[in-house]
Amino acid sequence: MRLLNPFKFGEAVNGEYFGDRENEIKILSLDLLGGQNIILYSPRRYGKTSLVLKILKHLKEEGCLCIYIDLFPIQTKRKFSQKLSSAIASGTSKKIGEVIKLLKEYFPSIIPKITIKGKESPEFEIEFGDGEKDIDEVLEKLYDTPNLIAEKRKKRVVVVFDEFQEVRNLDGENIEKALRAKIQHHQNVAYLFMGSKRHLMDRIFNKKSAPFYKIGKFIYLQKIPEEGFAQFIKKRFNDTALEIGNEEIKKILEITQCHPYYTQMLCHEIWNESFKKKVVEDEEIENALRFILLNQSYTFTVIWDSLSVKQRNLLIAMTNEEKVMLHSQDIIFKYELGSAATVSKSIKILEKKEIIERENRKYVFSDLFFKEWIKEVICK
Ligand SMILES: Nc1ncnc2c1ncn2[C@@H]1O[C@H](COP(=O)(O)OP(=O)(O)O)[C@@H](O)[C@H]1O
Ligand SMILES: [Mg+2]
Repeated sequence: MRLLNPFKFGEAVNGEYFGDRENEIKILSLDLLGGQNIILYSPRRYGKTSLVLKILKHLKEEGCLCIYIDLFPIQTKRKFSQKLSSAIASGTSKKIGEVIKLLKEYFPSIIPKITIKGKESPEFEIEFGDGEKDIDEVLEKLYDTPNLIAEKRKKRVVVVFDEFQEVRNLDGENIEKALRAKIQHHQNVAYLFMGSKRHLMDRIFNKKSAPFYKIGKFIYLQKIPEEGFAQFIKKRFNDTALEIGNEEIKKILEITQCHPYYTQMLCHEIWNESFKKKVVEDEEIENALRFILLNQSYTFTVIWDSLSVKQRNLLIAMTNEEKVMLHSQDIIFKYELGSAATVSKSIKILEKKEIIERENRKYVFSDLFFKEWIKEVICK
């Protein structure tokens, strides 16, 4: 049998590609089953979507109806209403007849176009004709349907909004206002709002005047703990007949800092380097890292070129100094960062460009391999 690479990155992972997260699965499942609203935040690529899809699978087995909508690709209110109705239909029924009935019951004036995707577990894509003018009215009704369905079917409903911060691009605060007014009365529905842009998520959930202030429990999804990740990595290599020692795994996780995406990416390339030799050694780890840096060098060069000298110097400081106090006089002087105010400005821009992010009160690179690239290409 041909062995396939057991590490995957880029999209949400499931099945044997998914590791650990046992605690998070337990806590989030219990909370959602109990009707608790939750805000789940982490930087991009920490594994929110993978985790939540796994939890929803588990909740469905417990008899919940699960509605999942990703706001990332949605650019207009019309599209939002179509995607939300598609998500509600797909989450509550597997039969086209039932979906038509549901739409007739709640939206008698709409003539929808329904497309079925996937055979084993069908999903419905719903489009409204151009004649449907008042999207706000449709949305108002849509917001109430999860609770109506929950009451009628006597089931708990869980609604997940992935990349929720994008909601601000659709209609300012208006969607949040309308949604809040409805969902505060929804006794049988638990809402989970996920997001990866900290400043936007803060604006939506932590600002006192915002409609979603104190709407639920805030959970910060951490990286995967070292022990759990090490077990996962060992098993994936061993299951595909490759040997790897604890020292090598430790080295991998030191490079990737246990970041889920970058760990899978590095392991993927290490596997490609090692599968003929059947054993992972230092040489394969180094080759894989070199391969990734080479592969990404064009992208990194474009980013580097787009930065000002002060911003570049700040990144060099972050690369060179183990425990960086970016505002300290010594660092400002050593790396010619300007003034404390310039440092703050550079940080803000780099954070907005998603080059750096705050992690446990300090700033780190969003892309670990960009840091490695700076070390290899710029600092050498
Ligand atoms: N539990 C996990 N076990 C192993 N790898 C994971 C796990 N969760 C995420 N990953 C890795 O991280 C990548 C990004 O995951 P994703 O769920 O899309 O993150 P997010 O939704 O936070 O951006 C996946 O493609 C996968 O490589
Ligand atoms: Mg995601």
